[in-house]
Amino acid sequence: MNAEWDALHAHWATVGKRSIMALFDRPGRFQSFSVQSDDLLLDYSKTNLDSKGRALLLSLARAARLEPRRDAMFAGAKVNRAEDRAALHTALRADKRARILVDGQDVMPTVRATRDRMARFAHGLRHGEIRGATGQRITDVVNIGIGGSDLGPRMAVAALQPYHNGPRVHFVANVDPADISDTLKGLDPAQTLIVIVSKTFTTVETMTNAKVAIDWLGSAIGSRASAHLVAVSSAIDKAAALGIPAERVFGFADWVGGRYSLWGPVGLSLMLAIGPENFSAFLAGGQAMDRHFQTAPLMQNMPVLLGLIGVWHNDICGYPTRAILPYDQRLTHLPAYFQQLDMESNGKSVTEAGTPASEPTGPIVWGQPGTNGQHAFYQLLHQGTRVVPAEFLLARRGHEPDLAEQHRLLQANCLAQSEALMRGRNIQTARQIAAQLGYSGDELERQAAQRQFPGNRPSLTLTYPKLTPFALGQIIALYEHRVFTEAMIWGTNPFDQWGVELGKSLAKDLLPMISGGEIRDKDASTRGLIENLRAASESKP
Ligand code: F6P
Repeated sequence: MNAEWDALHAHWATVGKRSIMALFDRPGRFQSFSVQSDDLLLDYSKTNLDSKGRALLLSLARAARLEPRRDAMFAGAKVNRAEDRAALHTALRADKRARILVDGQDVMPTVRATRDRMARFAHGLRHGEIRGATGQRITDVVNIGIGGSDLGPRMAVAALQPYHNGPRVHFVANVDPADISDTLKGLDPAQTLIVIVSKTFTTVETMTNAKVAIDWLGSAIGSRASAHLVAVSSAIDKAAALGIPAERVFGFADWVGGRYSLWGPVGLSLMLAIGPENFSAFLAGGQAMDRHFQTAPLMQNMPVLLGLIGVWHNDICGYPTRAILPYDQRLTHLPAYFQQLDMESNGKSVTEAGTPASEPTGPIVWGQPGTNGQHAFYQLLHQGTRVVPAEFLLARRGHEPDLAEQHRLLQANCLAQSEALMRGRNIQTARQIAAQLGYSGDELERQAAQRQFPGNRPSLTLTYPKLTPFALGQIIALYEHRVFTEAMIWGTNPFDQWGVELGKSLAKDLLPMISGGEIRDKDASTRGLIENLRAASESKP
């Protein structure tokens, strides 16, 4: 792929200094640099990408064999080579009639059976047919999990708040005892269901918090506490060992990565909150995006283009971060969700072939909803020395018809930001403003210099009709496939995460040292910190 990379770098060397605004001199810029997938629209016209740049990026995708590798993933091939596994999160949301083979075995009957069991359980609990040990209705659900076993359901439960008509759902992730203490405080064990979510059922945070929750249930309900427990895991034997009855264990296969797992039993808390029908609509949204990704020509393929623009910004323009900016308060956890999806998948410096990556891989992903972010970090987006490509997400309609005008104010803010980032403000205009404010001479120049905006900062805008379960499914699948597209180009394996292992094993060694054991094989900094912590924990509060 060297020739394709070289051609892209050479192209940027000739066009990198031109203005994005100037690209709009050509009629049809918006039409030819935006793409539709069902009712989603992705506008990428406010980037410094032209037809030639796009064609070169598409050649890069072809050279990376994106299409056959995409088809292999959907077909159940072992695309996660490091772990010798398929990556079939798409099977979790596949249509009822689908047939998907792994090692010659159709996985769909099991997927469907688990989906049906989840739906029956959710229906029973939501309608009061399944009750707590004392016969009371379950009013609260606590999802205990971390990473992919937390971020997905947490994000989606918040996103789909208008569809909640079941129990309240709470989330505990952090091993910090503050998290579980604050969450359980105020809940009634007799009316609470604890859902322990862990693919491996070994994650220390989740197992530690689960034990606290089980003790909390046990001290109130005694031996019948298991009626308040559910486990979601790939290691169903480990869940059984914790005393959770088999009918309360929802399993999934090891070919579903944690950060891709929301579509199956990891989504149980979401299903409990919004009901099985809405959950099915969420899956249907994912399916619609899958169909689009599989069938649309590369040039009109939204996840492919989104991925290629990511590569363009990261590798060709040299912008090392991307900001996720949903103008949708209910997508408050979306930046954190995409952060794991993206950074755990593509934050790698070695390719799946074991060789060093030839180009920078996964960017730093961060963000928060607008308009809040405008009053926090947008200053740097507009006038900082670094260029941060912004990715705006915006609903065409809100869920509050009575407040439609307020939604338009939100929309105006979103469009204003992408326009301001691109357009900037030149020194002449800044001088006029300073003069109107009464400045003159040197002070006018000083004031004007600080009131100019460089502009020419790229952004993407994704619009969707309304934040429905279907739209959320489309958006999540869009970004999953974007991460896949980028991985195929960088040569990374987006389905493993060895980078989290070292810290986990060091933490295990450190615990006895912090608890007073002998401090061995530690550098002076770590040793000094252990001693500092020990001194504090020994002293009385
Ligand atoms: O942080 C690493 C990680 O392995 C993530 O990939 C995963 O989503 C999370 O831990 C939780 O893992 P589990 O679901 O096995 O508890």
